[in-house]
Amino acid sequence: MMQSQPQYVSAAPVSTSVSAERRPLDESRVRYAQPVYKGDYVIGESRAVYAQQANREPSMFDGVPQAPPDAILGLAARFKEDKFPQKVNLGIGAYRTEEGKPWPLPSVLTAQMMVAEDPTEDKEYVPIDGKPEHKKPVQQLIFSDAEIASGNLATAQAMSGTGSLSLIGQFLSSYMNCTTIHLPDPTWGNHNAIFKRAGVEAKKYTYYQKETRGFDFDGMMDALSRIPAGDAVLLHSVAQNPTGVDPSQEQWVQIVNLIGQLGVIPVLDNAYQGYASGSLEQDGFAQRLFEESGLEYFVAQSFAKNFGLYGERIGYIHVRCASPDISKAVLSQLKILIRQAYSSPPRHGAAIVYKVLSNPDLKAQWLDELQFMAQRIFQMRDVLRQILESQQTPGTWNHVTDQIGMFSYTGLATEQVERMVEEFHVYMTKDGRISVAGLNPGNVDYVAQCIDAVVRGV
Ligand code: LMR
Repeated sequence: MMQSQPQYVSAAPVSTSVSAERRPLDESRVRYAQPVYKGDYVIGESRAVYAQQANREPSMFDGVPQAPPDAILGLAARFKEDKFPQKVNLGIGAYRTEEGKPWPLPSVLTAQMMVAEDPTEDKEYVPIDGKPEHKKPVQQLIFSDAEIASGNLATAQAMSGTGSLSLIGQFLSSYMNCTTIHLPDPTWGNHNAIFKRAGVEAKKYTYYQKETRGFDFDGMMDALSRIPAGDAVLLHSVAQNPTGVDPSQEQWVQIVNLIGQLGVIPVLDNAYQGYASGSLEQDGFAQRLFEESGLEYFVAQSFAKNFGLYGERIGYIHVRCASPDISKAVLSQLKILIRQAYSSPPRHGAAIVYKVLSNPDLKAQWLDELQFMAQRIFQMRDVLRQILESQQTPGTWNHVTDQIGMFSYTGLATEQVERMVEEFHVYMTKDGRISVAGLNPGNVDYVAQCIDAVVRGV
């Protein structure tokens, strides 16, 4: 049966030409008026007003306002369009070669060929929570073998870090009656929106100290201690995004102790394991403390950065539960959320990760590659600091080497960042964050000159 077209009812007559008799447009109505949907009908004046303004037929989407470009991905799109020969992309957190090009990891490319040639790779749907045999190798990057064997872990494949966090948000609001999550200030720009969309209000806790461009441990402990039991608290398990500022191991011990006393719900965002030190083991310190604490908590594990699988959208949710029967119930509900959101996860990238992790030679190669990327970032931090100090760029620059992981929070002010982008074509986020993974021997000098110019205001 052919579906009938929706009928649109408009309070004001609409024509394609704007007549002089029409009442003048009221800006506030244009911007904020929303159409009211009633079954198939759209009622309200907003369509008429928009259409009148644009001198065209009304649309049922007239009430949809134009959204701004994404603060990080929008910048990446602008960079691509930019024709300036010396342009530098320090905006998005993605590793780049010395030529400024993406670097698919050789271990990942080998695994990809193995997947392509594997006759069991039949393109069928995988289980809602991912293939069972894929779980142990990814759990082993975070948890001890004893913990894995305990049955207390609920693990589900998810759509990289963002997808994992969004399911965790839905889980908090749907099954734990949790309406508030506390995020470090500052945090990754998408965190706030992800949790809000899931029905969980995001609040901030003190994290960063502007004066030192370092960690505000006392401020964080004080802020955490005032969070009510039952609220969720998000912690970046390593290489904090955007600041590159992490607690020391001694500070982590105190943070985990305090979290345990508060009765809050810990959510660990694990997006950069291996990128801070080059060692998964060393970067897993905070996660091991959580395991040792006996607490229940969530982990969102992303393979975008450490496997370079950015566009494959591969990650996992792990929920550490008090007992195997609880973990079964938790997994069953995660599967409901996944089934309703996207049915089942993508299989190709997950198969690549499995091939790498289950083949000792490939795994060793991957760990070397991870080490290599981390080393390049260390070197670039050193070189950038050296140049800034040798040319006596005003200010102190020790934070460039004190901060760790993919990002450095430069401390540049918004107007300075604007000049970096608009005048010098050095793309970075408005908050002054640069992706050190985008620096290389060929562009670091230019970037240092540009920082010098904007800091001096010349
Ligand atoms: C970033 O912070 O640059 C990355 O996590 C990419 C993204 O999706 O924002």
